Amino acid sequence: MSSVEIEVIGGGRMGTALLSGLVDSRWCAPEAMAVVELDAARRASLSEELPGVRVVAEPLEAPAAILAVKPADAESACRSLASLGAPVARVVSIVAGTRTRAIESWVAPGTAVVRAMPNTPALVRAGVTAIARGSSASEQDLAWAEEVMAKLGRVVRVGEDSLDAVTGLSGSGPAYVFVVVEALAEAGVMAGLPREVSEMLAVGTVVGAGRLLEQTGRSPEALRVEVTSPGGTTAAGLRALEARAVRSAFMEAVVAATERSRELGR
Ligand SMILES: NC(=O)c1ccc[n+]([C@@H]2O[C@H](COP(=O)([O-])OP(=O)(O)OC[C@H]3O[C@@H](n4cnc5c(N)ncnc54)[C@H](OP(=O)(O)O)[C@@H]3O)[C@@H](O)[C@H]2O)c1
Repeated sequence: MSSVEIEVIGGGRMGTALLSGLVDSRWCAPEAMAVVELDAARRASLSEELPGVRVVAEPLEAPAAILAVKPADAESACRSLASLGAPVARVVSIVAGTRTRAIESWVAPGTAVVRAMPNTPALVRAGVTAIARGSSASEQDLAWAEEVMAKLGRVVRVGEDSLDAVTGLSGSGPAYVFVVVEALAEAGVMAGLPREVSEMLAVGTVVGAGRLLEQTGRSPEALRVEVTSPGGTTAAGLRALEARAVRSAFMEAVVAATERSRELGR
């Protein structure tokens, strides 16, 4: 049997998304990838979802591992990697809130550790991920982690101290946007639209506005000014939002989530 080049520890939602991204991009042969999953029923469904990929209950010897378990399971998962005959050389952890210093203390000495914070659109490969290097990780390790995480969407490099703010903005951000969509859909119903029509318009507006931002590369401010004719309908709507201090509410949301992430990491 060929050797394993990369293994994902934890075959949950994120681990599975990452593996399917790696398989689709032909990172290496599926047989050179493994997923380690404790739950037997989950292992059975992983074998169907990821044909060719090795689905196992215990870590295998491999040069690199992606840690995708819940924070409470991170220490035991790392210790099982450290106990392998040839411990892994690189670990990329997407475990929320667990610092590189803690991971470094659980894996074999000298292991290069990189922390990554993706968000849920990663499940459809439209995520944004921030990565930060641990004390033993080199530029090459960081570049490697960047390539792996790019299978889930865009990647940006930050210092580890910025990861709480990343969690507050892009980690929690999809939920803020979902609230905006819910509110728009509800407002459309109040304005007299059938619910189905209103929901379709609300979702389409947010997805379309996102694409417009991405594809034109123009600033949100420039695009907003363009749709706001003097004395027009959008100007009236924006005035109502400003009266309710919506910008300030978003600022407070990001600050509160950042602070909560700091608290959870302590
Ligand atoms: N979802 C997100 O948006 C998001 C964003 C950023 C970061 N994260 C982080 O990503 C990590 C994974 O999230 P997720 O949503 O994919 O979680 P999840 O669906 O709960 O997946 C974790 C999986 O790992 C398995 N597992 C636990 N301990 C293990 C071990 N020692 N060896 C092998 N497998 C083990 C779990 O099995 P059992 O269920 O049997 O325990 C579960 O199937 C979390 O730390 C989360 O904080 C998630």
